[in-house]
Amino acid sequence: MNLETMKKRLKADAEEVELFLAHCLDEVDMPERLKESMLYSLLAGGKRLRPALCLAVAEMFGGRREDVLPFAAGLEFIHTYSLVHDDLPAMDDDDLRRGKPTNHKVYGEAMAILTGDALLTEAFGLMASCSTALPAERVVQAIAHAAFSVGAVGMVGGQVLDLAHTEARGAARKGSLDDLMEIHARKTGALICTSCVCGALLAGASQNDSEAVAAWAGALGSAFQIADDILDEVSDTATLGKPAGSDAAQGKTTYPALLGIEKSRELARQRADEAIAALAPFTGEHKDFLVALTNYAVERSF
Ligand code: IPE
Ligand code: IPE
Ligand code: MG
Ligand code: MG
Ligand code: MG
Repeated sequence: MNLETMKKRLKADAEEVELFLAHCLDEVDMPERLKESMLYSLLAGGKRLRPALCLAVAEMFGGRREDVLPFAAGLEFIHTYSLVHDDLPAMDDDDLRRGKPTNHKVYGEAMAILTGDALLTEAFGLMASCSTALPAERVVQAIAHAAFSVGAVGMVGGQVLDLAHTEARGAARKGSLDDLMEIHARKTGALICTSCVCGALLAGASQNDSEAVAAWAGALGSAFQIADDILDEVSDTATLGKPAGSDAAQGKTTYPALLGIEKSRELARQRADEAIAALAPFTGEHKDFLVALTNYAVERSF
């Protein structure tokens, strides 16, 4: 699949997900300011990569998009919560996200913390709602996988390790390459991986197929975060929609900081190739889309 066709499909996916996100809080009885703050961050744009991955994997195993859409939206809730918290002054202390002032700049720190809390919690309600269309045991299995992946073992643990290796947060020095691989696998790889594995689980894929999906998505997550580190260093704020140079300013442990840009680019390409190789057992248009998305993860400009 060429880049243009892939981008067209990703854009259509993003529009479908955004329409769902825009209305999923309509009937929820909550403080207006909280709803406004949640929607501010949810609807600020973003590539919607995690939902797109979940939907495409489900479809590759014969699942129906409409059955999986609430789960995919839940993944975007979790991703958005992680960004709202990641930008807080106590964490990366960034002022711009998805081309707009960060949540805490608009709503204040307390509301940003609570907005993240609400997004994370509501995500699990959305995911559970899939049981009206799909077998409950599949949905429970997927929710358990997602919870494990974004909790203490996965994403949150990764964020803790990220800060432990950030000079602006008191680290005496940057971490090693081994530290960095672990940080990336947890803070970014785990959510990307579970987005893909849950697509497989919800569609009733076999254990073997789910394992192949996990191997691909783990390498994809690693490639994706190396690219993020590179872009932070070589791109500009207008293109990224978030502050370029933030990692260096904070003394973060990143691939460019440890290996330089060229070596980092090579490594990202290598990870993407490993990822694509793991998709070998699969065929068809959805697999082709996943291959194109994997290439895009390292070739993207934002
Ligand atoms: C940013 O993720 C945070 C990382 C894990 C690198 P994305 O680059 O997917 O951000 P959006 O959703 O497109 O804004
Ligand atoms: C973000 O990593 C990881 C999570 C939000 C879990 P970064 O801190 O590198 O993401 P950006 O660059 O701010 O988007
Ligand atoms: Mg961070
Ligand atoms: Mg950050
Ligand atoms: Mg970054």
